[in-house]
Amino acid sequence: MTVLEVLQSTTAYFKKHNIENPRLNAEHLLANVLERKRIELYLEFERVLTESELPPLRDLVKRRAEGEPLQHLLGTVEFCDHVFLCDKRAMVPRPETEELVEFLKSELGTPNSEILDVGTGSAVIALSLAATFPDAQIVAVDISDDALTLAQENAARLSLAGRVRFLKSNLLENVEGTFDLVVANLPYVSTQTRDTLSREVLHDPPLAVFAGARGDELIRQLIVQAPSRLRPGGMLALEIGIGQSEALFSALAEENYRDICLKTDYSGVTRFLFARYG
Ligand SMILES: C[S@@+](CC[C@H](N)C(=O)[O-])C[C@H]1O[C@@H](n2cnc3c(N)ncnc32)[C@H](O)[C@@H]1O
Repeated sequence: MTVLEVLQSTTAYFKKHNIENPRLNAEHLLANVLERKRIELYLEFERVLTESELPPLRDLVKRRAEGEPLQHLLGTVEFCDHVFLCDKRAMVPRPETEELVEFLKSELGTPNSEILDVGTGSAVIALSLAATFPDAQIVAVDISDDALTLAQENAARLSLAGRVRFLKSNLLENVEGTFDLVVANLPYVSTQTRDTLSREVLHDPPLAVFAGARGDELIRQLIVQAPSRLRPGGMLALEIGIGQSEALFSALAEENYRDICLKTDYSGVTRFLFARYG
């Protein structure tokens, strides 16, 4: 079979298995097996695949059709122009979180700010900010040892190992000092909705997805804890779940935060909450 034929048949197979963006998935997997950039496949449409190239592709295609996330199969994910290692030790970073980071890049007042990333996962937020702000001092915490190991591998891979201090902590329990910015993309999915989630999401660690029966429990706890770690006028930046904005807005107001504002993501969902304290 040629490259083009393989792409066409894989795309059809993915469509049948309800995979979103079937052609794109097919291209990524084939490029991975052939060790090419995806775009280079377009120059090789007529190339015939060798016998040794087909079995590894078949394996990846089968696993993808069964719902394994593309990023796990590739082992990497692109986030804010950097390539991060990605596997089952932490949540697959989402495009919405890239929007959060882009917004923070434009909002961060002083380039030598002290920043705390809570629930860092693979450290996409902490390391993207570290790469953009070479003078910023960044602490990143997570409750999961697996996530912290992956985060440190990512830091080393991006030559940013000395730039972020990683710490195991249940929310802010082990955090010392004060910060200009506390950013968090904590788990915000309700355990009650487990049956409605996509097959891909079920490959994320449950600790990274679920917070409790409501979904916003951990975010609420952070809203209460963060003032003790924010400098006067410091900002709390939160990624939140669908339908959680009103209640969390009120929670911030009750804790005397000011300048509380909501922001929608590109798909129009109210996805981010920002507030200052003191
Ligand atoms: C939704 S994932 C986000 C990961 C990463 N920040 C991102 O945006 O891709 C949430 C992360 O919070 C961590 N987490 C869950 N409960 C926590 C807690 N009580 N304290 C600190 N981290 C927690 C999980 O281990 C997971 O890595």
